[in-house]
Amino acid sequence: MAVVADRCPGIQVHVVDLNSQRVAAWNDPDLSRLPVYEPGLDAVVARARGRNLFFSTKVNEAIASADMVFLSVNTPTKTRGIGAGQASDLRWIEACTRQVAAAAQGHTIVVEKSTLPVRTAEAIQTILSAAQGEGKSFSVLSNPEFLAEGTAISDLEAPDRVLIGGNNAEALDALAWVYAHWVPEEKILRTNLWSSELSKLTANAFLAQRVSSINSIAALCESTGADVREVAKAIGTDSRIGPRFLQSGPGFGGSCFQKDILNLVYLCRHYGLAEVADYWEQVVELNTWQQQRIARLVVQRLFNTVAGKSIAILGFAFKADTNDTRESPAIRIAQELLEEGAQLAIHDPKVSLEQISLDLGREAGVGEGSWHIASDPQSACGGADACLILTEWGQYKQLDWQAIASGMRRPAWLFDARAIADADAARTAGLQVWRVGEG
Ligand code: UDX
Repeated sequence: MAVVADRCPGIQVHVVDLNSQRVAAWNDPDLSRLPVYEPGLDAVVARARGRNLFFSTKVNEAIASADMVFLSVNTPTKTRGIGAGQASDLRWIEACTRQVAAAAQGHTIVVEKSTLPVRTAEAIQTILSAAQGEGKSFSVLSNPEFLAEGTAISDLEAPDRVLIGGNNAEALDALAWVYAHWVPEEKILRTNLWSSELSKLTANAFLAQRVSSINSIAALCESTGADVREVAKAIGTDSRIGPRFLQSGPGFGGSCFQKDILNLVYLCRHYGLAEVADYWEQVVELNTWQQQRIARLVVQRLFNTVAGKSIAILGFAFKADTNDTRESPAIRIAQELLEEGAQLAIHDPKVSLEQISLDLGREAGVGEGSWHIASDPQSACGGADACLILTEWGQYKQLDWQAIASGMRRPAWLFDARAIADADAARTAGLQVWRVGEG
């Protein structure tokens, strides 16, 4: 919404939330303290905030005065009840819809921005229809978000496409007009509601599938003497395959991939398509396997025991340039090593101690099966038997391996799950090196 406000100075954008602490953080004069770390976001907020971008807790007032309302709430995987572990929890989307139904005035276009299971728009429409009448009417659109974290601003400013699903031509035009302020008309795709909802799940499923595919080949490379980066380059130059999303690593994380695939799996099962459900579920299973594989191979190389050994973990975010740790591969890998009794020294340039503590489900401490935070990579590696790189932060490409290795206990290992460190320098410094996908 900050980008919309930035690109459309004539449109008033009110971002409202019940959480007053969050709203206060978005209004913080110190832009380095915005609740989300995203390169370029501070500059966009600086330009638009107070001009036509406002953050407040006045939810009803904002709904009443709006021509268009974007529902942008989270839809996590259900943890209990029917569909637990796969279906999306829609309680927030329903609560918001009811609030919009009650507070809206005049004609309001309601846009589903959250990623939702197919046919959720129907439920939204039903709730809104019940409130219709006396100068109050609604149309519903689906407008899924394709931005990736870390590159969100550039993805929004120059999107591959904008997708708008809906059945009402006037509403479609109104939202297309907003994007047309900066997106070329031919990139604004219009579909029916259900295609739009399903396209979001499908895009994420296809992207995640590429990551699982290349990770499966990485394991085969390690066994056969091939190098997954050479294989990725060779297949990526085939214009039908293309070069992107072929980087082998510790598996995909983030708030979308796993959740959306499980959602797709749930939908398929619901419609009796068991084979289709199994097919997509395998993408998630392979991802879990990749994380376990890495944790186990660390243990194996360290003489089959890490109990009481110190291991440095470099990177906790699910990818570089974000402080987001949702579904981060680092969580499962760290947990497995803690179960084995390792002492982890965790470094990440953007993730806080509190967040790591929440994710690992245990406080920082000392001794076997404990973890603590390290202020820089070198101190994380002090006295360690191994250093494990899990996030591709730029600074890990330029580590001084001579200095790091001199502080480690020999024989010492570098496990590079992102293949970004200078492996030759690490070997020269006397470390044994494992890189994902290198035979
Ligand atoms: C994703 C989609 O890209 C985006 O379109 C959608 O709107 C939300 O979900 P995001 O989760 O922010 O975005 O990150 P993305 O860049 O897609 O990466 C997801 C995961 O896959 C990360 O853990 C990343 O490290 C991993 N990945 C990605 C790889 O392991 N290899 C690759 O080649 C690419």
